[in-house]
Parts: sequence; C-alpha cells; structure tokens
Amino acid sequence: MSIIKTIMKHPLIAPSVLSADFSHFADAVADIDASGAEWVHLDVMDGKFVPNLTFGPKLAADLRSQSAAVFDVHLMVYEPEHLAAAFAHAGADYITFHAEAVVHAHRLLMVIRQLGKKAGISLVPSTPVSGIAELLPFADLVLVMTVDPGFGGQELIPSCLEKIKTLARIREQRKYGYVISVDGGIHESTAALVREAGADVLVTGSAFFNAPDKAALVRRLKGMDP
Ligand code: DX5
Ligand code: ZN
Repeated sequence: MSIIKTIMKHPLIAPSVLSADFSHFADAVADIDASGAEWVHLDVMDGKFVPNLTFGPKLAADLRSQSAAVFDVHLMVYEPEHLAAAFAHAGADYITFHAEAVVHAHRLLMVIRQLGKKAGISLVPSTPVSGIAELLPFADLVLVMTVDPGFGGQELIPSCLEKIKTLARIREQRKYGYVISVDGGIHESTAALVREAGADVLVTGSAFFNAPDKAALVRRLKGMDP
C-alpha cells in the first residue's frame, strides 16, 4: 500500500463548479465548503481543445477570497503554458494540463512548480498511461479522465479504470509521489469502482450540484456511509 493511501483512508472530494449555476459561483463554493468536500475543481475550457468554453483566471482570483479550500485547476486548453502563471497568481493550488495539448510537458510541469504550485498532468480516455511514463517522476498529480472532456453529466467509461490501477502500481514500484485524481461520470453508483481502483481524489460535477443533501453525498462518495 502506498504512503498516500495509508494516510488517506478515504479519497478527497473535488466538486467541479462546471455544473454549478454560473450566475452564483460564490454560492457554489460556499456549498462545497459546507459539504465536507476538500477541494474546488475549476474546469477551464478554450472551445478548441474541447468543444466548450468556460472561464479564465479572474474567476479563480475572485473566488479565492471566498474559500480556504484547495483550488484544483483543470486546464482543457491548447497551449496551457500561456495560462499557468495567471492561474498561479489567481490562487490556484494545483494546476493540471493535458498531455495531448502541449509538446514540452516536462518544461511546463517544472514551470508550474517554480511558480510555487503543484503540477498535474491529465490524460483523455484514448491516451494510455505509457504516453506519460517519462513525466510521472515530475508530476504532483495525475488526472485520469473517465469521460471525453468538455461537458458534465456524461457516463463513466469503465475501461479507463484500468489506468488508475496502473498508475497506483507504478507509483508503488517506483516510489513516485503523485496523487491520482479521477474525473468524469462519478456518482453514487460508480464511486466505489473508482475508489477500489486506487483513486486519491474524486472529481464530481453533476452528481454534487444535483444532490439535495450535499454532505450526505460527499460521505457516500468517500465510502464513509453506505
Ligand atoms: C469534464 C470536466 C469534469 C466535469 C465532471 O470535461 O473535466 O470535471 O465537470 O462532471 P461530471 O461529474 O458531471 O461527469
Ligand atoms: Zn475536470
């Protein structure tokens, strides 16, 4: 069992404001804080890497004063190197970009760390773990997408779960330090599969914002309540 899994009996929960009411972001962050979820997941989309558009660093900066939660920025953009510093200055804690969106991924991981932030690398469902093998020693987080990114409310692709197991095994064997985060289609019926595969962080969008009792949902996603 890895050091991270030994310390964290239950995964952390990272609700995505993508599924919030965009006219009430501050309320969304307050709901996340009140629910017992530890992270706020911010999905940044450019309309090119993915067929949708969301928001930029100003939203993170404006929300930063509203919450002490970890801000987990997920960049679904081409040329993410142009946005890393802006999100660092906006108060992001983790900055994750896609391996498929950049040529010099190692350089960008180093730049994010030099900015004083945790550096994450993400994979779309069609990219294998072997595609980022050279980057794993330099990543603080690996984000496994379990849907094709761009929209909330999609069904989890079960074959992606194998990648979580592979990442956990490699981390154990090589003593790497990354956190394994999983994003897409996570709700009460799929969370156990994702936890059992070895995820440390569960991102949840539509399930969280549709839940009438968000604290109860968070406990169930963590596997604390049946
Ligand atoms: C998808 C985003 C996800 C999304 C998850 O492109 O990266 O973070 O918000 O939403 P659900 O949980 O509804 O699949
Ligand atoms: Zn995301």
